[in-house]
Amino acid sequence: MPAVLPVLATRLSTAAATAFGSAYGELDPELRSATKPEFGHYQSNLALRLGNALRRPPREIAAGLVEALDVTDLCQPVEIAGPGFLNLTLLPSILAAAVNEPVTFTSRQQRVVVDYSQPNVAKQMHVGHLRSTVIGDALCNVLAFVGYDVIRQNHVGDWGTQYGMMIEQLLEEDLDPETLDLRGLQLLYERSRKHFDADGTFADKSRARVVLLQAGDPETRASWRRMVDVSLDDFDQVYALLGSQLTRDDVVGESAYNDDLPRIVDELTQAGLLTESDGALCAFLPGFTGRDGQPLPVIVRKSDGGFGYSATDLAAVRHRVATLHADRIVYVVDHRQALHFDQIFTLARAAGWLPPTTAAEHVGFGTVLGPDGKPFKTRAGGTVKLTTLLDEAVARADALLEGREGIDRQATAKAVGIGAVKYADLSSDRVNDYVFDFDRMVAMTGNTGPYLQYAHARLTRLLSKANEQGGEIKELKEPTEERLALLLTGFPDVVLQVAETLQPHRLCTYLYDVATALSAFYEHCPVLTSEGETRASRIALCTATRKVLHDGLGLLGMAAPDAM
Ligand code: ARG
Repeated sequence: MPAVLPVLATRLSTAAATAFGSAYGELDPELRSATKPEFGHYQSNLALRLGNALRRPPREIAAGLVEALDVTDLCQPVEIAGPGFLNLTLLPSILAAAVNEPVTFTSRQQRVVVDYSQPNVAKQMHVGHLRSTVIGDALCNVLAFVGYDVIRQNHVGDWGTQYGMMIEQLLEEDLDPETLDLRGLQLLYERSRKHFDADGTFADKSRARVVLLQAGDPETRASWRRMVDVSLDDFDQVYALLGSQLTRDDVVGESAYNDDLPRIVDELTQAGLLTESDGALCAFLPGFTGRDGQPLPVIVRKSDGGFGYSATDLAAVRHRVATLHADRIVYVVDHRQALHFDQIFTLARAAGWLPPTTAAEHVGFGTVLGPDGKPFKTRAGGTVKLTTLLDEAVARADALLEGREGIDRQATAKAVGIGAVKYADLSSDRVNDYVFDFDRMVAMTGNTGPYLQYAHARLTRLLSKANEQGGEIKELKEPTEERLALLLTGFPDVVLQVAETLQPHRLCTYLYDVATALSAFYEHCPVLTSEGETRASRIALCTATRKVLHDGLGLLGMAAPDAM
């Protein structure tokens, strides 16, 4: 019975209904973890809510609630505090049982599609893509853990007018596309861009080449395919280094929707949602206006007949609902695209592609900043190569491990370095910008990845010395062990919150609290040197703590080395 909280919440609702009428059973009992140990384990504001609704003194209501409340099998006598708060404290045996019980979730029979990472072909992945990848992986882990059927979609930027000019440039220079590597591709892009801007004939040829590409001309497609493959190989290297879940099977790039685009226009036209404006086909949605009061249209087909980013995203929504049968669609993309997704979701709903029963959520995130507080760039102003960044993190972690014995130095440095980068990204509210600061992220103290990994490794070492697993937690006498146990029972609840709010930092904060409570426990409660029941019980508490840290780090996409 790991989830005591929902059981108590239901009991409170029942008491409200019994004492004050069935309608009051519908009120949220507002049962939360107590803010201070002297308030017990949980506190509820229900009496204050009821007092408001019934216009009666909350303390009087609280007394009525306690009278009707049946929790003697779970709690110590309920206390009324202050203006009418209810303080609940679990019986020690119930608390112990709640920690002992394994955490399980059953399938929800719900499918969630998560669109994340999404780098662009012929370009370096940048730190924004790093954020999307790290946050997306963590969310997929959490959603799967709580029982969703998760489908990952890497909506790679592999389509658009730039390929026309790159292929044209390739032909003009008589370059063999097979010889291109990522660097070569980037340089090719730069040359073709200059050429395009300077030479009208070349620009026309490039546009004609785009038409050939979209129409499926075999030779043009082959050159394009090569460019995509070179880039995907490069992305795979970053994913491997990061330990990302993403595979080639998850790549469903913009190009995949090419054949659906004319139908998108047809269906929107039939629904009367498109207006011609300067030769382009646009959707003007109510409520979308700029600062100057001018309408902000969604451009579905450009005046030259080409389709852009919006059309592709509309086709993607349609596909995810109609073919992938998504119940929930999640987009992990930086917050500057908030308006774009707001428009896409609104238009897709109007078109009937996104039914009211399917949730669509833009999981926005802030910018990664350099030490100067400006968006993270190289000194020359270019994008920072991700592999360089990750290698540096691993090197710093390696230095941190200097002198440690009995560890696999290379593997541990990788686990710690990559973990540090991920944790730094995940631990603050994702909507905020954050400064990429190696010194802070690889620190062994504070709310960092290495601190949590160390807490786990230290527990592992302690448990290996104990020569027993401890069986079940039987007694929780000391306040610090009680506090740790109580925190552990909150794990399923936190994970559910992350699945709901899509805010991984809640799990980070929770794990940090667990690690901090563990330190306090070590300080006050000897484990290996204690005896009998106490020893066995404390070892069991350590085993349970280790499991929560291990599983929690795993959900964040971080390794939990056994020694460091
Ligand atoms: N490739 C885009 C970029 O780098 C992000 C794509 C986000 N996903 C989507 N379905 N639009 O900005």
